[in-house]
Amino acid sequence: MAVCLLVPLAACEKKQTTVSVNAPATAAALGKVIFHDASLSASGVMSCASCHSPDHAHAQPNALSVQFGGVAMDQPGTRAVPSLRYMQKTPPFSFDSEGTPSGGFNHDGSAETLAIQVERPLLAANEMANGTRANVIEKIRLSQYAPAFRKLYGEHSLDHVDTAFMHLSNALQEYQLQADEFHPFNSKYDFYLAGKAELSPAEMRGLRLFNEEKRANCAACHPSEKGDDGSSPLFTDFTYDALGVARNQTIAANADSSRFDLGLCQSGRQGKAADTASCGKFKVPTLRNVGTRQVFFHNGQIKTLREAVAFYVTRDTHPQSWYPVVQGKVQKFNDLPKPYHKNVNVQESPYDRKLGQKPALSDQEIDDVVAFLHTLTDGYSASQKTK
Ligand code: HEC
Ligand code: HEC
Repeated sequence: MAVCLLVPLAACEKKQTTVSVNAPATAAALGKVIFHDASLSASGVMSCASCHSPDHAHAQPNALSVQFGGVAMDQPGTRAVPSLRYMQKTPPFSFDSEGTPSGGFNHDGSAETLAIQVERPLLAANEMANGTRANVIEKIRLSQYAPAFRKLYGEHSLDHVDTAFMHLSNALQEYQLQADEFHPFNSKYDFYLAGKAELSPAEMRGLRLFNEEKRANCAACHPSEKGDDGSSPLFTDFTYDALGVARNQTIAANADSSRFDLGLCQSGRQGKAADTASCGKFKVPTLRNVGTRQVFFHNGQIKTLREAVAFYVTRDTHPQSWYPVVQGKVQKFNDLPKPYHKNVNVQESPYDRKLGQKPALSDQEIDDVVAFLHTLTDGYSASQKTK
């Protein structure tokens, strides 16, 4: 926000409409300034980067299940914060020819595109809490980057709230899609795929299990291999599934026992997405940078990566480890109303086991998969390289 910092105040005021050499000159550069601008929140202390921290793979910087926002920063959210990395190929929400939902943004696909996605955080009472688009645009008009905004989008681009908001969305979208920091492809695994690093024995065993259909089978939804066009794997197939993660009682909204987060079927979409068969389904997230997270799954119920992997393999063989036990009965899938329990995936490995059977992976093998997942963290540098 260097527009007025470089010249004495009086001169700056006179030059309000000129843009300094340091002003953002592309939509992506302007988007970056907006992304980090805390004055765009009612509290004055929250920006997009507060929840999507660049130092934490553009996800939340802490171990809270949900973040707090609002005017006084005391209003809790209802879902964990996803990483904003590697979204450049996420298609808009749709159903394929076989009726499988895919694409879109947010855990439930409620936002068709990235551009639409910015409205909620800017307006929501428990996030940046601006209430209306007009309030946001008024703040932009008063910002130091208003001249840069007008230079990029036109002299009158801030005059009308809805068109101004469209440009604002465009700038934020361009930043997230264009800037290398959102898709650096420089994890150890990327170096390995390029033949420039070796995986340790544990990481290699983990990778094999991750891919093996009859064992961990993770790659069925989190693809790990290069695309036919040579593109790097994103570790998501953009589809939706119901895993039946346990209810998170620390989410304030869950104090109401009749309240359930049903995911896709509650996303506000009409038609098939609203079918009860979609209830409990959430988007498959990328696993890139999953080793930097401190909370897992849409409700942040699970707090370590090892537990997240263990959940997959012992959910059905040892459900008492994951769900509350009431009067001797395990409350399996207790974050979904009974009629939707049948939507939970119990067909595919690793969750095709039954109570008392051997889990799909041993403890050692779970550790191996975790070791492999840590190779997906961006910023692997030469100094860390093993042999
Ligand atoms: C208070 C914390 C918070 C703030 C501030 C915030 N977000 Fe988010 N963001 C979230 C949460 C939580 C979700 C998941 C929402 C859901 O699934 O309903 C999310 C989801 C997203 C997604 C979808 C990602 C995906 O993988 O589907 C994008 C894109 C995004 N935010 C961008 C932004 C931008 C741009 C801003 C600033 C204008 C912003 N966020 C501000 C918490 C926040
Ligand atoms: C049938 C599809 C499917 C398979 C197979 C699968 N996952 Fe997932 N994975 C998902 C979905 C869907 C979510 C999000 C669920 C939610 O938020 O409730 C998810 C979320 C995760 C998360 C949490 C990431 C985050 O950002 O919170 C981890 C970790 C994970 N999967 C690892 C694995 C591993 C390891 C395996 C293999 C043992 C695996 N997955 C197999 C569909 C799958």
